Amino acid sequence: MAKMIAIGDVGSEARAAAIGAAVTVLSHARPIAIPTETVYGLAADACNPAAITAIYETKGRPRFNPLICHMADLAMAETHAVFDPLSRRLAEQFWPGPLTLVLPLRSTTPIHPLATAGLDSVGIRVPEGFAGELIARFGRPLAAPSANSSGRISPTTAAHVEADLGERIELVIDGGPCPVGVESTILKVEDGRIRLLRPGGISVEAIESVTGMSVERPKAAGTAAIEAPGMLASHYAPNAPVRLEADRIEAREALITFGGRRIEGDDTAALVLDLSPAGDLAEAASHLFAYLKQADASGSSGIAVVSIPDTGLGEAINDRLMRAAAPRDMPLEQDESLG
Ligand code: TXA
Ligand code: MG
Repeated sequence: MAKMIAIGDVGSEARAAAIGAAVTVLSHARPIAIPTETVYGLAADACNPAAITAIYETKGRPRFNPLICHMADLAMAETHAVFDPLSRRLAEQFWPGPLTLVLPLRSTTPIHPLATAGLDSVGIRVPEGFAGELIARFGRPLAAPSANSSGRISPTTAAHVEADLGERIELVIDGGPCPVGVESTILKVEDGRIRLLRPGGISVEAIESVTGMSVERPKAAGTAAIEAPGMLASHYAPNAPVRLEADRIEAREALITFGGRRIEGDDTAALVLDLSPAGDLAEAASHLFAYLKQADASGSSGIAVVSIPDTGLGEAINDRLMRAAAPRDMPLEQDESLG
């Protein structure tokens, strides 16, 4: 079992003590689990090769998949990467928050090539709350993928992390359930255009409305897979098979629904979970991973999911659902590349 430190409604002294405990483990080049607004991250010193190796080993993650480097603020980020004017504007608007920008690395950065998988670019994000404070105290960027075994559903509570990685890590900081619930949106600015590499916690509509520009989505399925090396098809895989756009329940399936929608046979479902009875996509995103885990643990024969609107955060929800439902016929090592 990992040591668990709760920071939910503790005073400033207890919070400082939690940050101190976290810094101690990080300084020994060991990873810890920390809450962020998106999902729990498995964080370690981005400048220390032993620390990054420990992240890959703890997750069982392929090393060709680069990690997002988390910074305390834009000023810290500017010392590691080169910002074009549009990327800087996006950072000023959305940081701290669930946005990752892929930027050229500065030649002087101490970020270790193991964190970037040897690329000349780096994915950077400034997280909100505890994670941001911790990085400021630590003084160096933290590489942090989601705190789950590679290929599995990302954790949105400390209990999810403990159940999956508790035997392999020594410290979990418990900040309660993650408010956003899906990973950050990844963008790359190229020739003054904004390209979407991964839909996530900030909607494309929000980015377009702030910049007055249209965001380019991958032209064909698989394009993003090359651009963001982790974006292979099958990921977020529950044990039970996942069936999308369900309009009736098959024997012993669990149902994940949205907006109060009922479907044929749902009275026979092993379990019915509504992502948001009020039909709010942000609320739905915050429940998505926990409900997939709950449906998976229910002993159902499979998980049926109703169709979810593809607007706003629905785009990230549908992206994760498609990966959860993708065929699992690839060998696991190849299958688990998204981290
Ligand atoms: O919300 C999040 O982003 C969470 C929390 C913990 O911050 N982190 C997260 O990290 O999802 P991770 O490592 O699971 O996702 C990293 C994604 C991968 O798809 C990877 O391929 C892409 O970011 N990525 C990282 N660096 C990149 C780069 N230089 N170029 C293109 N894609 C990159
Ligand atoms: Mg992940």
